[in-house]
This record gives sequence, structure tokens and C-alpha cells, in this order.
Amino acid sequence: LALPAVVATGAGVRLAMTAGHRSPPVRRFAVALPVPPVLRPVATEGGTDRYEVRQLPAEVEILPGLPTPIWGYEGIFPGPTIEARSGRPVAVRHRNHLTVPTVVHLHGGVTPADSDGYPLDLVLPVGRHDWPGHHVPDGPGGPGGTAGLAHGQRVYRYPNQQPAATLWYHDHRMDFTGPQVCRGLAGFYLLRDEAEENLPLPRGERELPLMICDRLFNEDGSFFYPSLDPELRDRPGVHALFADGVRGDTILVNGVPWPFVPVDGARYRLRILNASNARSYHLHLDPPPPGGAGLVQIGSDVGLLPRPVAHDSLYVGPGERYDVVVDFSRYPPGTSVLLGNGAGDGPTAEVLRFDVGPRVVDDSAIPERLGPDLEPLDVAGAVTTRTFRFLGGQGGLPATINLRTFEPDRLDARVRLGSTEIWRITVDPEHPFHLHLGHFRIVDRNGVPPEPQDGGWKDTVQVRAGEVRIAVRFTGHPGRYVLHCHNLEHGDMMMMANYEVV
Ligand code: C2O
Ligand code: CU
Repeated sequence: LALPAVVATGAGVRLAMTAGHRSPPVRRFAVALPVPPVLRPVATEGGTDRYEVRQLPAEVEILPGLPTPIWGYEGIFPGPTIEARSGRPVAVRHRNHLTVPTVVHLHGGVTPADSDGYPLDLVLPVGRHDWPGHHVPDGPGGPGGTAGLAHGQRVYRYPNQQPAATLWYHDHRMDFTGPQVCRGLAGFYLLRDEAEENLPLPRGERELPLMICDRLFNEDGSFFYPSLDPELRDRPGVHALFADGVRGDTILVNGVPWPFVPVDGARYRLRILNASNARSYHLHLDPPPPGGAGLVQIGSDVGLLPRPVAHDSLYVGPGERYDVVVDFSRYPPGTSVLLGNGAGDGPTAEVLRFDVGPRVVDDSAIPERLGPDLEPLDVAGAVTTRTFRFLGGQGGLPATINLRTFEPDRLDARVRLGSTEIWRITVDPEHPFHLHLGHFRIVDRNGVPPEPQDGGWKDTVQVRAGEVRIAVRFTGHPGRYVLHCHNLEHGDMMMMANYEVV
């Protein structure tokens, strides 16, 4: 390891690694893809499903023969999957048995402000009564309807008043989201509804959630994260980060490196989630099926599309989800099909491998019609247009939105509940934009119509260059929320802003 260079930025002292770190080599396609277990509710009261989640330190085997210490929801990585139904509320009690404060955000959820996981709504470790340097008044109740500080545990309430979608939950502690997600604090939250269940989409064993992320490992199997002390350098004012986001050389899917997946010659629904701290993927099937267009997109971040859209490849930025169906009966039995990453090189150019078995009876289908048409976007009639300029975060430069870093006490925008606004997100050079609460549709990219993969409602968009215009709808709940860069290190470097729904 070369000595890191210390870089001072407006938000504190940061560390930029000047030399590449290498993880121990792993044989690819040697482990079968696991599917995270589904968590059972502990009780159902008054129509609300109640869950208990312990945030636990644990040791798991990710690299063969080596123990990796993790922080996991229920001590596993990914955390257990929560399956919820539209219109049926869920309450999750999280208990923090870790050594640092935590915050849980339901990414894509339309959630009241006090359950959304505002980055300062810390849950202190069980038994801790204060936290040095924490400058938010003791809860309950933070500004703008956020929750404030909690001791040992917090109950997060999710109304689930939104259509079926692939959501996910992950840590969101201010300044430390990158390291805490890296240690394992992320899981799926699958929202289902009747409209979707009435469609003949692949289900059961042929519905696979795929949490894709990259990691760096030390020789002893522990995660490598460039920070300054054994507890993530958990000292106020010191955040040691790769200035441009932490990218790993080892690709994990559902917590294991480069898995293989035995599949029947049949259709499979793949719920693709990029849970990487900073890495983007350009996914394709290798070889493509005869005739191409093997990735048939049926859903965006927060719900089904009106109609399927077939792709040869998909860009997937950090935080985004793409719901796709792949028909493996288009391949001769015995074919090995790689899910490749055109944005990677060497080992990161590969993600996982499907091993296609014999053709089988398959009563699934991809209907021409998945849902009602989306209403046309009334761009000209929108009352408010705002610009958010995401600048910096690379090479030790401050990570800013409209030339400012996050200030918890500063409100950066106020929007009306029920309104639709046009926002221009401009970037230099590339940032994944994510908004809490509000969902949006893409109006255009650099003035030209959205790309085929941009359809439907979203909560995150990888702005690869220049500008994306979005139409954002604010529904659900008043209160204070954040928008930020989903490059988690940029977010920790305060590329984040407050907005309030009134
Ligand atoms: Cu997935 Cu505010 O984050
Ligand atoms: Cu960024």
C-alpha cells in the first residue's frame, strides 16, 4: 500500500488513496447465487405488519476460506428481504447493536419525514447515551418533522401507499453512509400489489433479486475501506475517503463474488439493483440471444412500465433499479451466459454467469401491456423550474450542489405537496442524482428525448454528462427531506441538500 495523500476540502480533512489497492484474487463463477432470506413479521396488529431487525456485527465467508467482519441487518449481507404489499403499512423496529450510530433509509419509499431516515436522525448504539460531536438536539423531533436522536432503537413506519416496486433499505448516517453501507448495511424491500400479481410475469424461483456491488478486501478477508481508524475513523470532522468514491475490484451479487446461477430454459425476472458505493455498470448478456434485445425491461426504480422495452444493454448507476425479464429458452441448453459490464475492465467487466439448462414448460409471459399509460408530462405548464448543479467531488475538490456543501440547518428548496416541478440536474463530470420522497420522470437529456431505458417513474438517475431535466411530483407527506448524490462518498462529502414539502 502506498501512503495516502491528505487532501483538505471545505468540509474537513480527507484522504485520497494514491495507489490502487488489490483484493486477494478469487476464482470467478465458483459459488452459486444465494437469494437473501425473506424476513417474517413478528406480529400483525391493526393491519400493520411489524418486523424486528437487529443491526449486528457478524463474520461471514465472502472470499473462500477467509472471514469477513460485517455489519448486517440481522447479521447478514445483504440484509433480509422485507416483502410488503401496497396499501398495507409496515413498521420495522431497528435495534442498533453496533459500535456506531445508524440511520435507516427506505430508498424509493414514499415515507413520512420522521421515518425516512433523515441523515441526522441517528439511532445511537444500545447503551450509549450521547455521541461526541453530534450537534442535533436530543429527540424526539428534529426540524421539519424529522425524527431527531434515538437511543438504541427506532421504529420506522412505512405506509406503502405506492405501487409494486423494487425498493431497498440501507444505512444513511450523515458523513458515514459510504463506510456503513460498505460494511453490509443494505437489503431489499419488495413491494407487491394485485395489479402486478395478475400479470403472468415469472415468479417464485424464477424471480431473482440481484444486489450488485463492488468491494475491496484486505489479505485477511476484511473489507478494505480507506478510513483512518478501526471504527471508521469515527472522530468528528475527519472523514477519510477516496475523493472520487470507493470502487472495488471484486464484484459481489447478493453478497458473493461473481456467482453462477443455474437457470431453466425459461423466462426469469431479474430485479437488478446497483448497491455499489460509486461504481456504475453497463450491463449486457454475453453472448446475446439470437436476434438480440435480451434484456426486456418491465420496471423502473419505483414501478412497472406501461409496456415492456427490450434492450441490448442497460446503464445502471448507483442506487438505480431495473426490473428485467430474460428468456433463457432463446439459448441452446448448455449455454453459459455472462452478465457482462461494458463499463468495467478486467474482473469488473464480469458480474455473474447464467448456466442455461434444458427447456421446460413455462407458463409465464411478458404481456404487451403492463400497466396504464403514464399521463403526458406538462413541461410547459409546470409552475416552478429549479436547477441543481452537481459539481466536484473528484480530485479532492469539494462535492457541491449549487456551489454549496450540505448544511443541516439550511433549507435549499421549498416545494408544495401535490405539485409537479421541472428540475434541471446538471453535472460535472458525472453524478447519480437521488431524491427522497418525490418520484420523477425524465423529460430529456441534454435537450434530446430520454433514452429507451429512461421510461417510467424513478427516484435516482445517473446523470452521465451535461444535464438531465426531470418532472418531479411531490406526493405523500409534508416535511423535510434530502436530495443528494448517490455516489456514497460524494454524499458523505456533503453533496446533499435539504428540501421541505409544505
Ligand atoms: Cu439510497 Cu438518500 O439514498
Ligand atoms: Cu457525485
